[in-house]
Amino acid sequence: MFCVFSLIFLLVIPGVCRQKWGVKYSKMAICALKSSTIHLSGSYTHPYGLTVTKIFWTVNPKIGESINLLDNSNYTGRVEYFDKDKFFFVKLSNVRQEDEGMYCLRIETKVEKERHLGYPGIELTVTELRVETPEEVVEGDSPVLICKSSCNLGSTNFSWYKNGESFSKWVGENQLILQSVSREDSGNYSCAVRDLKDLPSPALTLNVRYPPKSVSVSVSGSAVIVSGDSVTLSCSSDSNPPALNFSWFKENQSSAIGSGQSFSISSFNTNHSGRYYCEAHNKYGSLRSASVSLTAKDGQNTLLYAAAGFGAAFICICIIIVALKIIRRKTADAEVQGDLSKQENKSTAVMDQMNSCDPDTGHQNDVMYASVCQKRPKEHQTAGDEDDVQYASVHHVRNADKVTAEDESQYGSASNCRLDDSSVIYSSIGVS
Ligand SMILES: *[C@@H]1O[C@H](CO)[C@@H](O)[C@H](O)[C@H]1NC(C)=O
Ligand SMILES: *[C@@H]1O[C@H](CO)[C@@H](O)[C@H](O)[C@H]1NC(C)=O
Ligand SMILES: *[C@@H]1O[C@H](CO)[C@@H](O)[C@H](O)[C@H]1NC(C)=O
Ligand SMILES: *[C@@H]1O[C@H](CO)[C@@H](O)[C@H](O)[C@H]1NC(C)=O
Ligand SMILES: *[C@@H]1O[C@H](CO)[C@@H](O)[C@H](O)[C@H]1NC(C)=O
Ligand SMILES: *[C@@H]1O[C@H](CO)[C@@H](O)[C@H](O)[C@H]1NC(C)=O
Repeated sequence: MFCVFSLIFLLVIPGVCRQKWGVKYSKMAICALKSSTIHLSGSYTHPYGLTVTKIFWTVNPKIGESINLLDNSNYTGRVEYFDKDKFFFVKLSNVRQEDEGMYCLRIETKVEKERHLGYPGIELTVTELRVETPEEVVEGDSPVLICKSSCNLGSTNFSWYKNGESFSKWVGENQLILQSVSREDSGNYSCAVRDLKDLPSPALTLNVRYPPKSVSVSVSGSAVIVSGDSVTLSCSSDSNPPALNFSWFKENQSSAIGSGQSFSISSFNTNHSGRYYCEAHNKYGSLRSASVSLTAKDGQNTLLYAAAGFGAAFICICIIIVALKIIRRKTADAEVQGDLSKQENKSTAVMDQMNSCDPDTGHQNDVMYASVCQKRPKEHQTAGDEDDVQYASVHHVRNADKVTAEDESQYGSASNCRLDDSSVIYSSIGVS
């Protein structure tokens, strides 16, 4: 694109007027921050005798075509004109990247051919700020951060922000010098032209690298290691970038015994006892941890297990007893009443069996009594005096091998068998 020079007509009226068309701009190039507001200004002179009817700004004018910015849809709502001290201004707000171009003043008069275009005009360049840092910053470095723009914003001071907060350290021109950085200096940095604080650059993350620090070993599993246990040691460290390379050592052994962030011993024995440490490495250095002492404790182990066993057994027994009591109480409550009538029947049935006692098969009857006892819950003893007597007798019958005189007397009392000669039975039990 090019601007057309308007033909400059000089009305040569000798001795009266020698003034020519002329346009002067305050600057020929402007570097503007994207989204900022700018002012362009120019003054003009024209030959005598002409009356200026129209003056406006145009961008990138073509031959015979100068569009007033006010009529350009790309600038709707962003353009204002004003006059001041022979200067004609345009205020352009919210500057966009597409606004880049040449801005010229156009002056028109009543005379059709007497028009003027102030060419060349003001070259507008639009830029954004960005922070530049060295590629790699290691603890102790003194990196220089630079607030960069694609065009020269002129002599201006810059403001710096760290994580969004205003930040002032050693600032020189568009540079920020961080002296001997530590990892606390890591963060998101942005800059802004001092009088345009609301148009900061995008934040740039400064990542301060450092060798491993605070390296430590943790032992997984129980506090007391028992022979045969598997033991895993883990190494943790603080480093940037994070350590990926770990080495494991056992004190008084010259070479590493393992690598990787964790180290496992699948079956610990007394030979494994000792002091272990790890070493974390990254690109910038390495650091070893303090040693941890691993010892197998065999003796305490048996006692410990025994104690644990007793404890568990005791708890189980308690639970079983409570559960049994609850069950019994429930079944008893439900059955006692309903069974009362049945009970009588059963009792007579038992009686019948007892009555069939035979002197020769007394021992068999004993067995039968034992089975009766097991099938009938103890609570049924309360059902009647008859039952009490029967059960008492059953218990003793089972110890038939050790029948004593006392037993015999109990047999006597227990005997509902109406045997003609009970002494015969008893002697036979004694024999068996
Ligand atoms: C508006 O901008 C677009 C893209 O930048 C351009 O193609 C078009 O010619 C412009 N319109 C005017 C009237 O200048
Ligand atoms: C920059 O700031 C310094 C001190 O605040 C001041 O003296 C100087 O004039 C400023 N420069 C510009 C271009 O604003
Ligand atoms: C820095 O910016 C990154 C993403 O741009 C974000 O994840 C991080 O949390 C920021 N750090 C701080 C300290 O604000
Ligand atoms: C890991 O450590 C070993 C020995 O210290 C070294 O030879 C190797 O280069 C290291 N690897 C990395 C990625 O740092
Ligand atoms: C390692 O050796 C040193 C002396 O050589 C000794 O004092 C230390 O007790 C040893 N450590 C182990 C765990 O054996
Ligand atoms: C311990 O080491 C000794 C010698 O190195 C070896 O003879 C012994 O079998 C080892 N004991 C166990 C339990 O591995």
